Formats: sequence, structure tokens, C-alpha cells
Amino acid sequence: MTHQTILVLDFGSQYTQLIARRLRELSIYSEIVPYSITSEEIAAIGPVGIILSGGPSSLSTADSPRCDRRIFEYGAPVLGICYGMQAMTEALGGCVSPAPEREYGHATISILHESDLLVDVPTDVRVWASHGDFVDVAPPGFDVLATSANAPVVGIANSEKQLYGLLFHPEVAHTEHGMQILANFTRICECQHDWTMESFVNDAIARIGEQVGPTGKVVCGLSGGVDSTVAALLIHRAIGDRLTCIFVDNGLLRMDEAAQIVDRFHDRMNLPLVFEDASERFLDKLNQVTDPERKRKVIGATFIEVFEAVASRLGNFEFLAQGTLYPDVIESTSVVGPSAAIKSHHNVGGLPENLQFTLVEPLRELFKDEVRALGLELGLDDDFVWRQPFPGPGLAVRILGEVTENRLQLLRRADAIVAEEIRSSGNYKKLWQSFAVLLPVRSVGVMGDERTYEYTVAIRAVESRDGMTADWARLPDSLLSLMSNRIVNEVKGINRVVYDISSKPPSTIEWE
Ligand code: XMP
Repeated sequence: MTHQTILVLDFGSQYTQLIARRLRELSIYSEIVPYSITSEEIAAIGPVGIILSGGPSSLSTADSPRCDRRIFEYGAPVLGICYGMQAMTEALGGCVSPAPEREYGHATISILHESDLLVDVPTDVRVWASHGDFVDVAPPGFDVLATSANAPVVGIANSEKQLYGLLFHPEVAHTEHGMQILANFTRICECQHDWTMESFVNDAIARIGEQVGPTGKVVCGLSGGVDSTVAALLIHRAIGDRLTCIFVDNGLLRMDEAAQIVDRFHDRMNLPLVFEDASERFLDKLNQVTDPERKRKVIGATFIEVFEAVASRLGNFEFLAQGTLYPDVIESTSVVGPSAAIKSHHNVGGLPENLQFTLVEPLRELFKDEVRALGLELGLDDDFVWRQPFPGPGLAVRILGEVTENRLQLLRRADAIVAEEIRSSGNYKKLWQSFAVLLPVRSVGVMGDERTYEYTVAIRAVESRDGMTADWARLPDSLLSLMSNRIVNEVKGINRVVYDISSKPPSTIEWE
């Protein structure tokens, strides 16, 4: 690996991932490791800088997390953030106490002392704080860089040893000049900003080639989403047609989606694609299934059956490609605090872990925004890399009650109208997701002189950063009205449209 690394020691802050992402935005490779990493393990990685994350614990309890003290002697600059600053202070002989006033949210700090960490940062800055304890006395040899109304010491530095601490979060967007502070730290670390998607492509291709060897064959399940597509494109660059992509059409796709997939992957991107139309099989298995969890299980199990059958029909594959991303990797290694508790979405529509393949996971080091940048680098278009997420079980979790061909047709047509109008109104990219849901409710209406008794469609449109929480979108009345009129007029079988005004939590984004 040719790039430099800054290590982030995770004490369990909800912002730990954000620190790593911010550094990556500065073109510096950053990796998150448990706070318990030893000095020897750090030496084996050879980072140019170390950041101690925040965390929910209090040093007033004996068993709260503490890092190996030898880290401060390792030789790379260290920045402690919030709990990380407190841990550093305690380790180096300063004093940490419970704060009389807990500081959470916006705070204003005043800079008292010049420092290479605070170059180009004004004297008074609004920052984002979240701490119960504070630093009473800085460790010997440290200058106090800044103060706030509720905490006497909110920034410390020992410039000679290149050790720094901040009692607020520079990685959070609410902190003014936060990026500047992080950039200053990277300058102290003498970073070369050598983490670019261009360099990643070359490294990744070399690594895939090495892992798969000169004759190995890889099979990849394409989902139609960004992650599996980018993984496939990278692997294709590395090993050419020794990659086979399988797309399983489960019959639960949106309007024209199956044809678009063949067009995009096979015709335009030249990926070696095997398209398996298994829609009848899925619909058979879903016959009379109405329970949401049961639907997911049936779809998940059927997908695995079909995928395995197609893969074994096509020959012997030693390797299976997966679009695993860095947040999934962190999740499985994270040890403490809320960063360990945050779960990504349920992976229904994926493959189980015990298949007889060796995994090839070329995106393991990347965050989602990096995968998008990589996709663009590999020639995908903007529209594709910014597409809204679509769940593995597809339209089945948007049809309440039984999934039948007739209901799928109704939903597809309504959903296509929603998609078209959301796009042409310029709202598509602002929304995390926008789609239609078919309800098993029939109600009375009038069309012309006739009484109707038809189904209801709900429109769901949400804003979200990561799908974990979401707020319903305040779409303009005119747009809602347009979608409603078109659906009722154009989709025979639907005579009522409602708009879902619930947020997550307590509601989920999907209806099932
Ligand atoms: P919920 O409905 O739990 O969804 O608020 C959160 C996000 O996850 C997506 N989702 C899924 N994605 N397989 C997937 O690949 C699934 O089974 C699944 N269920 C929900 C959902 O679309 C939203 O973006």
C-alpha cells in the first residue's frame, strides 16, 4: 500500500466514522481501530498521525476505556477529541473532573494561545460540544489553547511532542472552521494527501489480481445498485472475462428495470452478464404469503437457491465478489459505545456467509461517498451513482398483503408516475427515497358518472442522511397534486392517493 494513514482510535463516539470521512475528504487515508490497539500493533501499521475519538464514557469510572499510554511516545502526532482529549490528559498527568455544567450542543470558544493546530481559525468560534467531564488542569508541558464559558480548558497542545487535545468536535459540520482544524492537524502530520480514487483504482486492481491469481474465476451477484456494480467494474478491470456477473430477476423490480439492467450492464458497460429470469419462481413462492417477515425470508431463500443453481450451472467459481463497504467492516470490529450499536439495513436479498466461496471485497475500505466517486472514475454516469436506494426484496415490501402479478402491475405504474414527476420537479436528488406503496384497502370513488371501488396508493418521500432516521419530505402541494391526479387518471384500479407524513422513528421508511 503506497498511501499514508491516520489512525482513528474508537472510544465509541457516534462521530467516529465522521472523523475518518473528513480525513478522506482531505485525501488522506484513515482507518478506524479499537481504542485498545497496542503500541506494537500501531507500529506495524506505521501511521503518520493518530486521532483519539470522542466517546460516551466517563473517566471517573475505573473500567472506562483507556488506550495504551505508549501511544503518546510512538512519535506520530496525536489529536484527542472530547473523551479522547480527556483520556490523553489523564494519561499524561493532567486532571479531568465531572463538569458542573454538562455541555452539549453549540458552545463558543475563545482562543488564548497561538498554535499550529489553530492556524487560520478566528479568536471566537462556535463549536459543537458533547461532554459531561472536562479538563481542570492540562498535563505538564501543555499550553492551554482555548477556553469556553463552561469549561476552562477546551484546547491543549504540547507542540514539541506534537500532542493536541480539543474538547469539541472539529469533525461535525456545526463546528465552524472544523475542517480547517483537521487540515491543520494533517499539516502537522506532514500528510501528502495521496488518497485519491485514481490511486485507489490502481491499487485495487493489483490486489484483486493478486488474490484471484492468473486463472481464478469470480462470480458476482449484481443487484442493480451502486455497490455491487462498482465492485464488478473494478474486478472486471482486474481479471476481464474471468468475472461472471449474475443478475437474478425476481419479478419484483420497477417498471422497465429488468431491460434497463441488461442495457446498462451488458450492452453499455460490457460486463459479462448472465440474466436469469426467475420471476415466475419468486411469484409462485410468494403465493398467499402476506406476513412481511415471511415475505422477506421467502425472497431471501429463493434468491440463494436461484443464485447457487445458476452459479453451479455456469461452472466452477472459487471466488464470490461482494460490495461490502467500510461501515459494515467497522460495525463488525467496533467494540464500545454507540458506534458499535448502529446497524446498517437488513441484508435481505444478499447471500449467506457460509457459501463455499472465497470472498473478494474490493470496496471494504470505502465509504459510500467514495464508492460513488469511484463509480464516476470507472465511467458510471452521475444519474446512476446518485440513484436512490432500492430494497433487495423490491416491490414485495411495498405491496401490503399478497404479492400478485396484477398488484405488481398496479404498483409499477403508480410508482413510475411518482418517479417521473419527482425527477422532473428537480426533487429526486434531494430525497433519500421517493416511491409508491400499494395498500390492500379499497374505497369508494366516482369517475365520470360511475361509482368506483378500487385500491389506494400511498406516496412515500423522505429525507435522510443514512436511512437510520428520516423525515417525511415537505413536497410542494402542486407536485403532490400532480402525482395524485396522474395516478388516479392513468392507473385503472386505483382511485385514491394518500401522502405518508410519518417520520422514522417511529415509522420505518418501507411499509413492510
Ligand atoms: P426501513 O424500512 O427499515 O429502511 O426504514 C431503511 C433503509 O433500508 C432499505 N431496506 C432494505 N434494503 N434489503 C435491502 O437491501 C432489505 O430487506 C431492506 N429493507 C429496507 C430501505 O429501502 C431504506 O433505504
